[in-house]
Amino acid sequence: MQKTDIKCLVPDLPDVAEVLPYLHEMQANRWYTNFGPLNQRFEAEMIDFFAAQGSSGLSVGTFSSATTALELVLRAMQLPRRGRVLIPALTFPATALAVINAGLEPVLGDVDPDSWELTANDAQAAHSDKPFVAVMPVAAFGKPVPVQAWQDFQRISGVPVILDAAAALGQQAVPTDLITVFSLHATKPFGVGEGGLIATSDTQLLARARSLSNFGFAGTGGVVQQAGTNAKFGEYYAAVGLAQLKRWPEVMDRRSAVNAAYRQRLAPFEGRIRLQAGSEDFTPAVFPVYVKDKAKAITQAMAAAGILTRHWYLPLLHNHPALSHLEAVKTGTDVKTGADTALKACMQLEDSLIGLPFHGFLSDADIDRICQVLEQQL
Ligand SMILES: Cc1ncc(COP(=O)(O)O)c(C=O)c1O
Repeated sequence: MQKTDIKCLVPDLPDVAEVLPYLHEMQANRWYTNFGPLNQRFEAEMIDFFAAQGSSGLSVGTFSSATTALELVLRAMQLPRRGRVLIPALTFPATALAVINAGLEPVLGDVDPDSWELTANDAQAAHSDKPFVAVMPVAAFGKPVPVQAWQDFQRISGVPVILDAAAALGQQAVPTDLITVFSLHATKPFGVGEGGLIATSDTQLLARARSLSNFGFAGTGGVVQQAGTNAKFGEYYAAVGLAQLKRWPEVMDRRSAVNAAYRQRLAPFEGRIRLQAGSEDFTPAVFPVYVKDKAKAITQAMAAAGILTRHWYLPLLHNHPALSHLEAVKTGTDVKTGADTALKACMQLEDSLIGLPFHGFLSDADIDRICQVLEQQL
């Protein structure tokens, strides 16, 4: 008998019954979007959520996605037009697209070969060489960005830091002196369907970004003060968000149990595979594994066994046709050829990263099946 497929990601969203009370409230209010009461309550509850994690003094704004939140916060910062913004080359394309859509120039930086993320040290070196107007580190695969290093970078360089923590809600510490953006996409750990959050202590900046999400209207007069767009969140998604907040501990319990089971099952593979450095300290959004030069072969073997995998975040940004013109930071000299190299660590990850299935509904038997196929290929 054909075994059922193991999906790579499965959203963990509230049941209809859990959302229903909020929808009844919305209907009674006859208020469906435009920063309605449910939206306001969701933002207030997210402020409490971050406060419970130790970040007080934040304001939170909701947007139609993390992509629009990133774009609009960059626009609200009023950076010099076409200014250079450093981002890692290993990220979901939305990081670069938000920068471009904000009228700025993404510059691609290499990542650390072990943590697979842009580091503050490399950003400082690149900035001293040729300055940036902003830097956008990414919480790669949901790994929280190390806050202290980026706070130091921002203080020493004077360059503002926006954390693209799209996949790291609940894991990422939210500092009051940086700007942090999260995604609420259905496949993210804290999913509502579509949505994004900005968390910042800068209330004026947030007000400008919020106004940009509502055509650039300021106040109630319907007068465009800055050319905006429509990137509002709406009451339906706020309803799901409120229901999701109630079940968040349960969602996280499921995800952490799967993470622990995977790590235990993979422990004997040490030396043949590598996990993201630091990943023992958090529950990731997805489950990337380093399998030197074997990503393609393993993908095929998994597919043949009915197991769906992904190549996050590949292709690297500069290998997307629409992004191939982007400038990359030089990170060293190739010892063999003497040529300047860029994105060396990223390129070494290119044929070697595979995203294994990861969601809260994987059983021990599923994990065993996945790891057996993996082991046969190592
Ligand atoms: C690193 C990163 N940035 C931005 C985004 C965009 O998020 P959204 O789908 O909410 O626009 C994603 C989504 O996967 C992401 O992984």
